[in-house]
Amino acid sequence: MDNYNLENRNGKVKAFTDARFGMFIHWGLYSIPARGEWVRSNERITIDDYEKFFYEFNPVNYNPRKWAKLAKEAGMKYAVMTTKHHDGFCLFDSKYTDYKATNTLAKRDLIKEYVEAFRQEGLAVGFYYSLLDWHHEDFPAYKDRHHPMRNNEDFKNKKIDFNRYIKYFHNQVEELLTNYGKIDIIWFDFSYDDMTGEKWEASKLIKRVKELQPHIIINNRLGGNLKKNIPEDYAGDFTTPEQIVPPEALVNEKGDLIPWEACVTLNDHWGYCSQDKNYKSSKEIIRALVECVSKNGNLILNVGPNAKGEIPQESIDILKKVGHWIKQNGQSIYGCTNSINAKPEWGRYTQNDCYLYAHVLQRGVGPINLRGLAENIKRARLLCDGSEISIETPWNAEDYKEDAFLNFKSASLPDENDTVILLELK
Ligand code: GLC
Repeated sequence: MDNYNLENRNGKVKAFTDARFGMFIHWGLYSIPARGEWVRSNERITIDDYEKFFYEFNPVNYNPRKWAKLAKEAGMKYAVMTTKHHDGFCLFDSKYTDYKATNTLAKRDLIKEYVEAFRQEGLAVGFYYSLLDWHHEDFPAYKDRHHPMRNNEDFKNKKIDFNRYIKYFHNQVEELLTNYGKIDIIWFDFSYDDMTGEKWEASKLIKRVKELQPHIIINNRLGGNLKKNIPEDYAGDFTTPEQIVPPEALVNEKGDLIPWEACVTLNDHWGYCSQDKNYKSSKEIIRALVECVSKNGNLILNVGPNAKGEIPQESIDILKKVGHWIKQNGQSIYGCTNSINAKPEWGRYTQNDCYLYAHVLQRGVGPINLRGLAENIKRARLLCDGSEISIETPWNAEDYKEDAFLNFKSASLPDENDTVILLELK
């Protein structure tokens, strides 16, 4: 699917949900201390003490074309990259701050190169933008729940002009959506306590966002509630369960499905963490993707490149294995949704119109039962090679008149990650 474009399908959100699988990229100055992107907050690091990383930042191996090729090889259809994280450092060339990549040894706009590289590989392009800003002097510090200086008495009587911060961040969003051509996704992060909705002047912001990029897909973290009958205009287009796959498809108060995207790390950090080797297996990642789609969701998987601009080898290895599986089975992912058929005991279903995909995760003993599908199946094929699977009711299953059966010859599954059977429905 070259030049996959989120716009030219059946409406903007459908295009996003058809894509199903994306790459999240968390990258910034925090890749140097290498203890995750919350390092300033977790360790109460002052701006002055953090400043050394700004002067040192020099990602000599930054080559987003490599990242884009990897994302494509993994079967991902879109990417979202941090343009500014909570530490306030901008990877893009903003005229509203000096705290930006162009003033480091990198000396250039790293976001521009990201956009060009991912576009060139035919992926849709998204921007992550942090609503929090621990560098801006008008962002609440003392007693704010997350700010690195929350307990620092020196900040107790410091006057701030929050409106100035709002203006600053609205201006930056405007720059991001003006200077880089068409942007497919904007991913705001995040709202908390009373720092939500109109506190961010969210309605005004969203109006401007839509003027600048009418087709953009917007996440839900400016606040508001997508589950309401009539959501706020800033409630966004999709919800963002973090480090969790919801137990079932998400619906609003009316019972209509709402789009969602689970964001998940490969180890336990978003930003680069040199000590964190707690990587998930490629098998678990494949199954997580299938689980998301079987519940009508997307999966955006994170990579945290290091200070040199390299994606950790462990992440590369996992993504390549996922890509190998997707190459054979992508038809059961892209454009697919949850099925009206209940979750089977041996795995999961995904569906795209008259194609039902049986994701067999557990071989079990004997024929594989397709509950209630006796009259519905035209043919069954192993998705990876198109070979026929017999669906004649075997002698020992004649009591189960409502069900169909896959007569699986081998005692083990051909693909231990997830063996997918295409079922063409009548
Ligand atoms: C959180 C974290 C953050 C990360 C994000 C990704 O809100 O603050 O560091 O960027 O979630 O979902």
